Amino acid sequence: MASEQPDPSSYWHSDSEHSFLELSSLARHDYEFVRVLDPWVDVAELMAEDEGRWNPGGDAKPGGYLELTDQQLKEVKLDLNGRQLVVRQDTALLLEPGVTGSVVWDGGVALPLLVEEWRDAGVIGPLSDLCVWELGAGVGLTSCGLLALGAKHVVATDQSHMIPTLESNLRRNFPDCGCFTCGTLDWDDAETEIATLIRDGAPRCDMIVISDTWYNECIAKALVDALVAVAKTAPDGRKYTPCIALEEMRSADCLVGFLEEVLSRGITVVRVVKESIRYAGLSGHGRMIVFLFQL
Ligand SMILES: C[S@@+](CC[C@H](N)C(=O)[O-])C[C@H]1O[C@@H](n2cnc3c(N)ncnc32)[C@H](O)[C@@H]1O
Repeated sequence: MASEQPDPSSYWHSDSEHSFLELSSLARHDYEFVRVLDPWVDVAELMAEDEGRWNPGGDAKPGGYLELTDQQLKEVKLDLNGRQLVVRQDTALLLEPGVTGSVVWDGGVALPLLVEEWRDAGVIGPLSDLCVWELGAGVGLTSCGLLALGAKHVVATDQSHMIPTLESNLRRNFPDCGCFTCGTLDWDDAETEIATLIRDGAPRCDMIVISDTWYNECIAKALVDALVAVAKTAPDGRKYTPCIALEEMRSADCLVGFLEEVLSRGITVVRVVKESIRYAGLSGHGRMIVFLFQL
């Protein structure tokens, strides 16, 4: 851990009863992290860590930022935990205004692989105890991944136009398991839609995941409102709700806009130093960043 950083116990609250994602555990397993206090300083550190590979707005590969996925394919496959997940995606739909979720983005692949790495390393407690909520789930590869890794239940949410694809991908990989809920959670109307999901039987949230949801700083406020509202559904007695956010470096302004919004709510933010992550798809992957929030 960076030497100038304070002891995590002074800012990251521990919940001994539900210690499934603790910074002390990350540190014990040699993952480095830094507390994010000033987003501009953090972005400068990120660029330094990346040794000049990140040139925001400058050197995007043709076709965008993707290195782990191919959005031209009709199906995306991911081997995880000894099984193969397959989800359908729709490149043509991506051309419609306002649609971003009809294909798998890099974060959607990297997030379940990171959770697998952390589970195997013993960083994360048993997933079989957890109900994980995903916001902006798109076609559902991350949600499928968390189920494949043994999550007790996954609540996969997105805007209403994504729900048919999301639901059919979850059902295809997990037929008749009763282990997922799929439903609309538009961040602009989060409180109402969360209440509807809970009323209709979605289990309360133990952990939140988001991948590739920070692509435009205009949506930062609504997304953070939604994260806070989902965290409030945590079971009684829970001290905090952890959130894993796996985002791409698109532009410094976008990254800073989201971090400022999160920090303005008094939420603790930690960034996991990429080079300490073993999974090959992330180490050396110039654009992927892992944040943890304590909501
Ligand atoms: C870039 S895609 C990422 C999809 C998926 N997480 C992945 O990594 O493949 C962004 C996702 O956020 C969702 N999204 C954008 N604005 C939203 C809103 N206001 N409410 C709910 N979801 C939203 C989109 O529908 C889309 O699924």
